[in-house]
Amino acid sequence: MDNSTASQPSHAATLGGHFTFPGTSTAVRRMGYGAMQLAGPGVYGPPRDPDAARAVLRAAVEAGVNHIDTSDFYGPHVTNQLIKEALHPYPDDLVIVTKVGARRGTDKSWNPDVSRQGLTDSVHDNLRNLGLEALDVVNLRCWGDGHGPAEGSLAEPLTILLELQQQGLIRHLGLSNVTPTQLAEAQTLTEIVCVQNLYNLAQRKDDGFIDRLAAQGIAYVPFFPLGGFSPLQSSALDEVAKSLDATPMQVALAWLLQRSPNILLIPGTSSVGHLRENLQAATLALPAQAVTQLDAMAG
Ligand SMILES: NC(=O)c1ccc[n+]([C@@H]2O[C@H](COP(=O)([O-])OP(=O)(O)OC[C@H]3O[C@@H](n4cnc5c(N)ncnc54)[C@H](OP(=O)(O)O)[C@@H]3O)[C@@H](O)[C@H]2O)c1
Repeated sequence: MDNSTASQPSHAATLGGHFTFPGTSTAVRRMGYGAMQLAGPGVYGPPRDPDAARAVLRAAVEAGVNHIDTSDFYGPHVTNQLIKEALHPYPDDLVIVTKVGARRGTDKSWNPDVSRQGLTDSVHDNLRNLGLEALDVVNLRCWGDGHGPAEGSLAEPLTILLELQQQGLIRHLGLSNVTPTQLAEAQTLTEIVCVQNLYNLAQRKDDGFIDRLAAQGIAYVPFFPLGGFSPLQSSALDEVAKSLDATPMQVALAWLLQRSPNILLIPGTSSVGHLRENLQAATLALPAQAVTQLDAMAG
C-alpha cells in the first residue's frame, strides 16, 4: 500500500487512506477507533449501557474502521469483552491493537507491572477476553510519569514480550509513552511498528519525534487526540470549525490526519453520534490558512 497518498481528499471513502505497518503486510485505515471510553466511569467496571457500547463498536466496523485500540486494563477486562461480544468472529481485515504494562487495583488504581508474570498474564488475559489465538499488535505501555514518558531501559520487558512473540502469541510489537532514546534502544532488539504517545492540537512535545518516525515508516498513534478526559476547548478551534462548517472535534482530527502521513487516529467515544461525526473528519480538507491558525494553538 502507498502510505504517501494517505491524506488526499480522494481517500476520504477509505477513512483517510491506508497505512501499512513497517516490515509487515498488516494495513489499516488511518481513521480508527479507541475503545477506552467504553468501560465504566474512571475506565473501571462495566458501562451504564453495555448494549450502547456494543452498538458503537458495530457502527465503527460497519463504517469501515479496521483498527481498534484497546487494553485488558480498561475495565479491567470489560472493554475487551465488549469487543468480543460485539464483533467476534472478527472481520479478516480488523486489526486489534492492545497494550500491556499495568494492572488495575480494586480501588481503580493503575499499577505499572512489567514483571515477567505481569506481562505474561496480561498477554493471556488479552487473548482470552478478545477470543484470539494471537494478538495483532501489542504495545509495551511504559509508565514514565503518567501520561508523559521518562527515560529508562526497556530491554527487560521487551525481551519478555519477544519470548511471547516467539511462542506465536504476538504478531507485532509497538511502544507507548516512550522517548526517542527508548525507541532507539528497542530497535536494537526488534522491529517496532508503532508508537502511541500523547499528542493533539494543544500538546505537541512529540513534533520532532513524529517526523523521525515518519522517515522510518513507523506509525505514530496519538492518544488523547481530542484532549482525552477534558476534550479540547479553544476559540481558535471554534473559529476554524465555524468557517469550514465542521465541528471543533472534526477539525482537531483533520489537523492530525494532515499533520503527517504516519499518524493513525484512534479517537475514543461512547456515542454512535460522536463516532460518525469523528469519522467524517476524514472527508475534511483543511485549507492552508486554517492550518496556520491551528498551528498557532500550541503557543
Ligand atoms: N497508550 C496510552 O497510554 C493511552 C492513554 C489514553 C488513551 N489511549 C487510547 O487512545 C484512545 C483515545 O483517547 P481517549 O478516548 O482517552 O480520548 P480522546 O479520543 O481524546 O477523547 C475522548 C473524549 O472526547 C469525547 N468525544 C469524542 N468524540 C466527540 C465528539 N465528536 N464531540 C464531543 N466530544 C467527543 C468523548 O466523550 P463521549 O464518549 O461522550 O463521546 C471522550 O470524553 C483511547 O480510547 C484509548 O484506546 C491510550
